[in-house]
Amino acid sequence: MSVGTVKAVPFHEKSYWEGRFEQENHFEWLLSWDALKPLVESYLDPNEPILHIGCGNSRLAFHLADDGYPHVINVDYAENVIQQMKAETSPKYDRIEWYAGDCLNNLLFLLNQHDLHDGFSVVIDKSLCDTIACGDDDEQTSQQKLAHQVGSLVRIGGVWLCVSFSSQREHVWDQPSGMGWKWKREHAIPVPVNHPNSLPGAPEIFHYLYINRKVPA
Ligand SMILES: C[S@@+](CC[C@H](N)C(=O)[O-])C[C@H]1O[C@@H](n2cnc3c(N)ncnc32)[C@H](O)[C@@H]1O
Repeated sequence: MSVGTVKAVPFHEKSYWEGRFEQENHFEWLLSWDALKPLVESYLDPNEPILHIGCGNSRLAFHLADDGYPHVINVDYAENVIQQMKAETSPKYDRIEWYAGDCLNNLLFLLNQHDLHDGFSVVIDKSLCDTIACGDDDEQTSQQKLAHQVGSLVRIGGVWLCVSFSSQREHVWDQPSGMGWKWKREHAIPVPVNHPNSLPGAPEIFHYLYINRKVPA
């Protein structure tokens, strides 16, 4: 008897995403803006830029702009998706920006570029955290790096709105950064997911919205 092998999708590899974006024009991960809007709008300020990390080919920036939050700064490490999204951005969305960059390492240039010396008030991450968790080690080094990098971009009192399929995503985030601040989990909100084809009696499925606030350590 032969034992089959299971091939895991390499969600943590840049080459996977670049290959995928060669074929894919649009895929909205986990929650749509319609589902998120009532949960996050109280954290958004129309006069402040919103940083959307791991943007992929999500249409979130356009929905935000249509609803009165015109300045959305999107970042993804796949250069091809950034080029595609730039090409799709009509002049109507003249305050939506697209950058190629690695969210684990190197985003501080965004602060200087936007004269934001205290940092952003809001960062949105829709399933970037899941992607990064896929390739992580036992110490969760990459997730720690993400928490640290986002913390370097957000001002004290600002928030990281993080959408994940996992109910276990928060425990690496509440450790002190060693730089005078830490993340405080304010809410972990289970959001029921509609599955129109579910059989009667199928268990309910949830995605999770984590609201993390940067506070003094
Ligand atoms: C699950 S998709 C989510 C896309 C989008 N946020 C959405 O909700 O539809 C994860 C995205 O994160 C990007 N990504 C993964 N690791 C990254 C990193 N280290 N730096 C920047 N982007 C990254 C991938 O290229 C991909 O577009």
